Amino acid sequence: MVSTPLTPLSTHPARIRAEIQALHPQIVEWRRHLHQWPELGFREQLTAEFVSQKLQAWGIEHQTGIARTGIVAVIPGTRPGPVLAIRADMDALPIQEENDVPYRSQHDGVMHACGHDGHTAIALATACYLSQHRDSFAGTVKLIFQPAEEGPGGAKPMIEAGVLNNPDVDAIIGLHLWNFLPLGTVGIRSGPLMAAVELFDCTISGKGGHGAIPQHSIDSIVVGAQVVSALQTIVARNVDPIESAVVTVGKFHAGTANNVIAANARLSGTVRYFNPQYEGFFGDRIQQIIQGICQAHGASFDLEYRSLYPPVINDDRIASMIRSVAEHVVETPTGIVPQCQTMGGEDMSFFLQQVPGCYFFLGSANLSRGLSFPHHHPQFDFDETALGMGVEIFVRCVEKFFNDNPIRSYSGR
Ligand code: NI
Repeated sequence: MVSTPLTPLSTHPARIRAEIQALHPQIVEWRRHLHQWPELGFREQLTAEFVSQKLQAWGIEHQTGIARTGIVAVIPGTRPGPVLAIRADMDALPIQEENDVPYRSQHDGVMHACGHDGHTAIALATACYLSQHRDSFAGTVKLIFQPAEEGPGGAKPMIEAGVLNNPDVDAIIGLHLWNFLPLGTVGIRSGPLMAAVELFDCTISGKGGHGAIPQHSIDSIVVGAQVVSALQTIVARNVDPIESAVVTVGKFHAGTANNVIAANARLSGTVRYFNPQYEGFFGDRIQQIIQGICQAHGASFDLEYRSLYPPVINDDRIASMIRSVAEHVVETPTGIVPQCQTMGGEDMSFFLQQVPGCYFFLGSANLSRGLSFPHHHPQFDFDETALGMGVEIFVRCVEKFFNDNPIRSYSGR
């Protein structure tokens, strides 16, 4: 589709930055509004209304109610070209906020403790800027405001609803504000950035009895304890040591009294890995180990294993495009952090399975202002200076993408 050679569009970094800085008080205001009215996954009604009203006011064509509360906005440039999507998640967490700030959560037990309020504000500001500079890019920008990233996942139903089609998306980018990195840094790498997330729940059934007469019982706690230990051998002995993986048993519930042998034990856990070749592997190994141990002790079991999100894998070309943009935005040689993988998961991965793209971390911690609590902590908050940086990276990525089109060679579009 991009056959006419494009004259490089002149990017005026100083102008872009000045305009975003002028918008900054509003970006902060939007973020704080969203922070005050957080909503859980698939219930982002007020949030979606807020986003829709802004888009409406700026004359941006958009569709609401996708995968219940999602929104897709389309901003065509003045010249035709490929389609770049920018994704932001909108949901909050079931956490009681402990911050004493004027913009603290007004919804009891619900809090934006991961920074998705910031992601929504950044995407909104990007939309606002681009809608006023349609002549600065040759192509179309699609903004995807996604529900329920924290679970059960809004990306997949949005894809199923066709958000990557009509117009078809050529590449996708997205960011996560990141309190594990200081303000003024960007964590970016090609290849795997975040891990696959798989979950399991297992009930081990033995035979209850008197704590002093074990010979007539099958102790589900003894069986379960062996299972917990043995599961650790999957990473230690079955996974290629060059690869990274985690098996965590996060819940182990069994028993009622000191002198009673527990008939049942319930174990729940999570598995993480980067390499997609391990898809299916951990589920099989966990099943085999539990089966073997239960059989050895005459216990039975019921295992439920499910895959939640695949790993987040960045495309080399889009990653290097964002990296070169980010280098100019952070303006310090130490500002780019290439080794920033985490075993956390993200459903941005579903988008990245469909189209090439890149997800990255935008440093948002500021120790001197006490803004360094980790994500999902009741005192989580971030340095709002990062908001403007996020917008600047997105805006400059848009201009660079449509000038250089790093994926043209293989997308054939
Ligand atoms: Ni998050």
